[in-house]
Amino acid sequence: MEELEKLKSELKNLNAKYAGIKDVPVEQRAEFGRKLNAEKMDILEQIRAVEEAALDTEVEPIDITAPCAPNEPLPELYSVLDGSRHPLTAELKRVVEIYQMMGFDVVESRQLDDEYHMFDSLNFPKEHPARDGYDTFRTEEGLIPPAHTSTMQNRVLKMYRDNLKRGEEIAVVVPGRVYRNEDVDATHEHTFYQCEGVYVSEKCTMGDMLGILREFFEKYYEQKLNIRTQPGYFPFTEPSLEFMIEKPQALGGKKGDFLEMLGCGMIHPNVLKMAGIDPEKYHGFAWGGGIDRLVMLRYGLKDVRYFESGNLNFLREF
Ligand code: DAH
Repeated sequence: MEELEKLKSELKNLNAKYAGIKDVPVEQRAEFGRKLNAEKMDILEQIRAVEEAALDTEVEPIDITAPCAPNEPLPELYSVLDGSRHPLTAELKRVVEIYQMMGFDVVESRQLDDEYHMFDSLNFPKEHPARDGYDTFRTEEGLIPPAHTSTMQNRVLKMYRDNLKRGEEIAVVVPGRVYRNEDVDATHEHTFYQCEGVYVSEKCTMGDMLGILREFFEKYYEQKLNIRTQPGYFPFTEPSLEFMIEKPQALGGKKGDFLEMLGCGMIHPNVLKMAGIDPEKYHGFAWGGGIDRLVMLRYGLKDVRYFESGNLNFLREF
């Protein structure tokens, strides 16, 4: 491509001439510039023509067929393409199925939400320090990758509130991916999964909630469990509890070794009101907890960071 090289070097020389404009008398500069521009356009046009001609003649055709015979077994390198479910996806399915067996509907949460669903609809007062605990990320447009699945409570309550008019309850679980601005270590990830539960009816009590949660955990771990609660604080529940289970001995736990599994409580009247449900007439409870923690305990995993690592050796264990 001698011709192309020649044109490119001409272009380079020409570009150098532009610098000389400062030595040209002011009244001749416009004319000087115009001439250089015309020459430059001319060379660029010639380069384009040469390149185009080369394209027509010199490019080898690209082989777009598959690199291996489609009916032969894949080479070892490709065996990962056989694929398998990520452990969190598989366990999330199990979690959801247990709740479905108990009569719950399932609604997936979102990966981008807004200020109203993240805070206001959950009874977080403006400027309240409780907001800091959910310090998460924001997009430039001000949207929020949610820090918990509770962001869906208001939507779920509105979606299902007609159930109450028909004399039925609201019973929904909301699995989803959540994000927090965490210092990442073996037990903290910036990205993880939660499952939220929302239940509303005319007569439900905290006892019903504890019964449902016990039933869920015993089904999930396939054994009887000791449970314990302690007071907690969430703006969207009153009263609020932390729910714990005794670490099963089969999973390496000692007697009295209680682990906090989720937050829960009776839905705050303001949260019901904001979803158009009369808190004088209806009561509800809600809970939310991490899926990663649940799965780590089941499989005895020590480091939560494996889940998002894309480490194939880890994934192949499942
Ligand atoms: N959203 C809370 C968290 O991630 C957990 C939680 C607490 C959810 C109480 C609830 C609830 O639904 O009622 O820290």
